[in-house]
Amino acid sequence: MKIKNICCIGAGYVGGPTMAIIALKCPDIKVTVVDLDKDKIDAWNGELDKLPVFEPGLKEVVEKVRNKNLFFSTEIDQSIDESEMIFMAVNTPTKTEGEGAGMAADLKYFIASAKQIAKASNSNKIVVEKSTLPVRTAEKIKEILEKEGKNAVKFEILSNPEFLAEGTAIQDLFKSDRVLVGGDKTNSGKIAVQSLVDVYANWIPRNKILTTNVWTSELAKLASNAMLAQRISSINSLSALSDKTGADIDELSRAIGMDSRIGEKFLKVSVGFGGSCFKKDILNLVYLCRYYNLDIVADFWESVVKINDFQKNRFSEKVLIKSNKIDEQHITILGWAFKKNTNDSRESASIDIAFNLLLQNKKLFIFDPMIKKERVIKDLNERFNIEKSKEFNELLKNVFVNDTIEEALEKSRIACVLTEWDEFTKYNWKNFLDDDNFIFDGRNILNMDSPNYFKL
Ligand code: NAD
Ligand code: UDX
Repeated sequence: MKIKNICCIGAGYVGGPTMAIIALKCPDIKVTVVDLDKDKIDAWNGELDKLPVFEPGLKEVVEKVRNKNLFFSTEIDQSIDESEMIFMAVNTPTKTEGEGAGMAADLKYFIASAKQIAKASNSNKIVVEKSTLPVRTAEKIKEILEKEGKNAVKFEILSNPEFLAEGTAIQDLFKSDRVLVGGDKTNSGKIAVQSLVDVYANWIPRNKILTTNVWTSELAKLASNAMLAQRISSINSLSALSDKTGADIDELSRAIGMDSRIGEKFLKVSVGFGGSCFKKDILNLVYLCRYYNLDIVADFWESVVKINDFQKNRFSEKVLIKSNKIDEQHITILGWAFKKNTNDSRESASIDIAFNLLLQNKKLFIFDPMIKKERVIKDLNERFNIEKSKEFNELLKNVFVNDTIEEALEKSRIACVLTEWDEFTKYNWKNFLDDDNFIFDGRNILNMDSPNYFKL
């Protein structure tokens, strides 16, 4: 079946970039990205320099296809009904209340959009799970679509998890290591799988498009993220031991990674991984393991998150010890995004580190090239609310978000580099260090030869 119209529900970090690339590579397909959030849709339709998602190369792609075969709209029902294939790319955060709170994925947005697909569809649809989901969600979605959809309308559910990483989304989408399409082994299932394979085959070599059953595909996404995060926690755990023993963690990482069985990627030591995916997806995996009474497996994966928390606390503690020793109450935080080249700060290590420092009454001067003051304050508010701290309004008065590195460094003797932005690497640090100041490098990117420079 040849697809001519695609609707994608969810115009976020996944929906926006993935659909822009499909539109670019499939000029015969009309792609419409819909969202409940009108401001976001207006921003996607607005100035190219103010798109809601910042990704290198994204605005150039959007410029080429927007209003040709790529559209952003709030007309959700209409777009669903017009399309043969509907991608679901809504958010699936960790549940905050009810059964599984703090661990399981919250499927409320996903279920709401499944209901909307059921209600708005007047012809057969292929529904594609693009969001990251617990294994066997397709079963639940099928139930909803069949129960709430019109009698004559048939739905085929595919799983097609997204593996892009923020900051490199466009290059990841152009040259995916693999594309996974999971579907039923029935005749109609096979036809649906083939239709999606044909879409990707416009630019992805066939040997990189893997077809599996739905459950493998759903689980593969959680498993991939868990394996990647596990590598970071492994190297971060060893950084604590290197610190005690005089080994150099970067040298160690290189020595380990040169073994071709291990490989060098995802062994870069850091202050802790962040981002909207790793923690949420591992906790989801842990929840599933416990559900199936696999407690030892659950404990294994949970320890990846525990090491990540340990690493953030270990870094905060080092900074606090030094600042107390030199009686310095001001601390500069450089970097709020969870990695470079993104305007996303979800689960950024900077949030937890700032939180730890604020609790010790430190005054923070924060700068990030892509993240605005409102976002920083919102992140901290959310962090304080989790801890249900009463005095957070007072502590938030100690947060100053600056417009330049210089401004952020002006009033403090301690600088913490928490995101690996190129402009921090290129900055001329000599003047700062001259004045008996201190740098804590949470990314090991500055490589300075000074007793006042501390790397991980
Ligand atoms: P996001 O929060 O950036 O975007 C989700 C969008 O869905 C929001 O704009 C929201 O308004 C919209 N939405 C929610 N419910 C809706 C509804 N009923 N109808 C219409 N729109 C609705 O989230 P994201 O980062 O794009 O992630 C989406 C999914 O993809 C998640 O499951 C995530 O785990 C997964 N994923 C994310 C990444 C990533 O790098 N961010 C990578 C791979 C997979
Ligand atoms: C991740 C997965 O890589 C991607 O495949 C999936 O689709 C979504 O989740 P993302 O979170 O966007 O992507 O970025 P990623 O590059 O994986 O980085 C996640 C965090 O780990 C960042 O905070 C990053 O700085 C950190 N990291 C990454 C390390 O600390 N060390 C590394 O070696 C690699």
